[in-house]
Amino acid sequence: MKQTGKWTTQDMPSQAGRTVIVTGASSGIGFVAARELAGKGAHVVLAVRNTEKGENAMQRIRGEYPDARLEMRELDLADLASIERFASEFRGTHERLDLLINNAGVMVPPYTRTADGFELQMGVNHLGHFALTGHLLDLLRSTAESRVVTVSSGAHKMGRPDLEDLHWERRSYRKWQAYGDSKIANLHFTFELQRRLAEEGAPTIAVAAHPGVAMTELQRHSSFLEWSSRLIAHDVEQAALPTLRAATESSVRGGEYFGPDGFLEMSGSPVRVQPIQRAQDEEVARRLWERSTELTDVHYERHAARSAA
Ligand SMILES: NC(=O)c1ccc[n+]([C@@H]2O[C@H](COP(=O)([O-])OP(=O)(O)OC[C@H]3O[C@@H](n4cnc5c(N)ncnc54)[C@H](OP(=O)(O)O)[C@@H]3O)[C@@H](O)[C@H]2O)c1
Repeated sequence: MKQTGKWTTQDMPSQAGRTVIVTGASSGIGFVAARELAGKGAHVVLAVRNTEKGENAMQRIRGEYPDARLEMRELDLADLASIERFASEFRGTHERLDLLINNAGVMVPPYTRTADGFELQMGVNHLGHFALTGHLLDLLRSTAESRVVTVSSGAHKMGRPDLEDLHWERRSYRKWQAYGDSKIANLHFTFELQRRLAEEGAPTIAVAAHPGVAMTELQRHSSFLEWSSRLIAHDVEQAALPTLRAATESSVRGGEYFGPDGFLEMSGSPVRVQPIQRAQDEEVARRLWERSTELTDVHYERHAARSAA
């Protein structure tokens, strides 16, 4: 029996009957989240770009939970066509979506463009998830008490996206700034999505989480970060808890944000945390939303109309 007041996976309610998508479930925090949700009885769809890693992840989950209800589907968030294909196949085979965890991410890669010409970090971390959520909105809206959880980062504090130059075509590329921009975009997206869902009276809420610091494959592009993270990181099991709490606790309200409770939110147990004030700027969120709609050609209003029809 649990003795402390700290939230752990023991506090997660049964997920039986729920259908969940976790992006980037092949490693790190996404893998732990997928495993724990499956362990509580959810039907978990591992949305991965590398199917070999995805198979391996499913085997590891089944090693721990032999009865886990798992499915793997290919999703490359750096390619709008792949996102549309994933969503259309999912909608063709599932009647509900209780939980979408927008977790996949890349950090400080060399300057790279996605298949659609977007800077990779903004493209995968924000625009890919913007498009994915939009394509799945009808299913979310028709599922009672559904949720969208988007994984941001403490690095959102550096974020100041230049909406006129989102892809660094006019400035010399600063990879850390681009990461921070994509992570504040995750928060702008969550808060704007929540406002829109509430306005429509949809049964879906949008919430955000950040893991603190954990040694995962995310640090693959920076040996400095790999080295420094070792000194301050908590373990990946602990780092997945803010996401899992945001995803499953019944008292969570739309627009809330979860992270670790330790020094500078780098480690600790999951609690409600505050983003910086700039992340709550409604005007910036609205403009980023418009720009994201233009760039991805995913129109949330049309998807909402389709589910109402
Ligand atoms: N670890 C930290 O300290 C930390 C701190 C703050 C925030 N975060 C956030 O936590 C989230 C999870 O990161 P993590 O630490 O668990 O890192 P990770 O182990 O590298 O996991 C990231 C996942 O995203 C997937 N991914 C990358 N590009 C993709 C694409 N184009 N399409 C689909 N999937 C893609 C990766 O797939 P592959 O396996 O194929 O590469 C991997 O499964 C990210 O959003 C990250 O920004 C992490």
